[in-house]
Amino acid sequence: MKPNWKTDELVQYAPYNDYQQDLRKIGLNPNFWYPVAQSQELKKDKPHGVTFGGEPIVLVRTKSEQVFAIEDRCAHRQIPLSMGVMCGSKLKCTYHGWLYDETGKLTGVPYLPEDTPIPKGVKSYLCREAYGHIFVFPGKAELAQTVPFPDVQINENDYKTMYFSRRVNCHYSFLLENLMDMNHQFLHRRLMGKVKPSLIENSKGENWVEAKYKFSGEPHPTANLVLAAGRDKKETVTDFDIMTIRTEYPYQTLTVCGPNSDSPVLKLWVYYIPVDKEQKINHSFGMLMIRRPKIPGLLTLLWPLMRYFTGEIFAEDKMIVETEQKAYDLQGTDWNQEIFPLLLDVRELLKKKGIPLN
Ligand code: FES
Ligand SMILES: [Fe+2]
Repeated sequence: MKPNWKTDELVQYAPYNDYQQDLRKIGLNPNFWYPVAQSQELKKDKPHGVTFGGEPIVLVRTKSEQVFAIEDRCAHRQIPLSMGVMCGSKLKCTYHGWLYDETGKLTGVPYLPEDTPIPKGVKSYLCREAYGHIFVFPGKAELAQTVPFPDVQINENDYKTMYFSRRVNCHYSFLLENLMDMNHQFLHRRLMGKVKPSLIENSKGENWVEAKYKFSGEPHPTANLVLAAGRDKKETVTDFDIMTIRTEYPYQTLTVCGPNSDSPVLKLWVYYIPVDKEQKINHSFGMLMIRRPKIPGLLTLLWPLMRYFTGEIFAEDKMIVETEQKAYDLQGTDWNQEIFPLLLDVRELLKKKGIPLN
């Protein structure tokens, strides 16, 4: 099957780049649910500070396992509340001991009479724990009902999940583009061997872009072992696999399936969370699910190798997108001469759905 774009459609795009709207100056839309920490990072009674696009947020897990998120600053003198201590189900600032509840409301100033008028407190965030992560809704709380909570189907019986959490020093868009564009397998030649991706289909909708790739060539034996672990028969990776990568704003998924199968051998969910105000740093959270092979214990045996392999692949991607960010910083604007139509669609989607940074 040929890609569903024609060469002459390329002229629809501005020559290489729209300088009026620099993608690297587009912030991730805060009106979605985003993971900001792994569940294991949030210990009982140990406030944990994170940021979303420079906005400081403190996550709290109380003794009774209640999880909440409020602004990570004391209304009094701006000290991070993540430096504070828990006092029952309330959070006490480490400096003068002002006390906040789970809604961010200031409920007490310990050294003043009870009838003293006190400030309201700080902002709170909608917060949910799911899929081994702590999610917050950084945008307008009233919009939370209008966007679906991410639907990550973790099927522990059939899949084993590997969790990722890594800081990457680049704008989130570099990573979203990187995964969509499988033509960068050349970068991974040391680990992947000689694999040649071909885009066989691409499509898009109001809030998504999807690409299907087929691979040919000779994968590195380790790559074959890792990618083939979940298979029933002795089939090589290149025999039939279809890789589907979907950016459904603001999330990204990747699945590897046989052409007539709806049961992927591999599923990946990734989220890139801007850390700083300029959004030149992001925190990448991922869940990689590998279908369990019929032979019990095989996956457990291969797991360290898989972890090593995926870690090495990610390290190469991290290196290259951070290099892209450095080039961008040097040039001060986006000089990319991107011409792959699929990538142009992704860039348009990110611009359309994002919020320009000030
Ligand atoms: S700065 Fe937090 S109580 Fe004073
Ligand atoms: Fe890559």
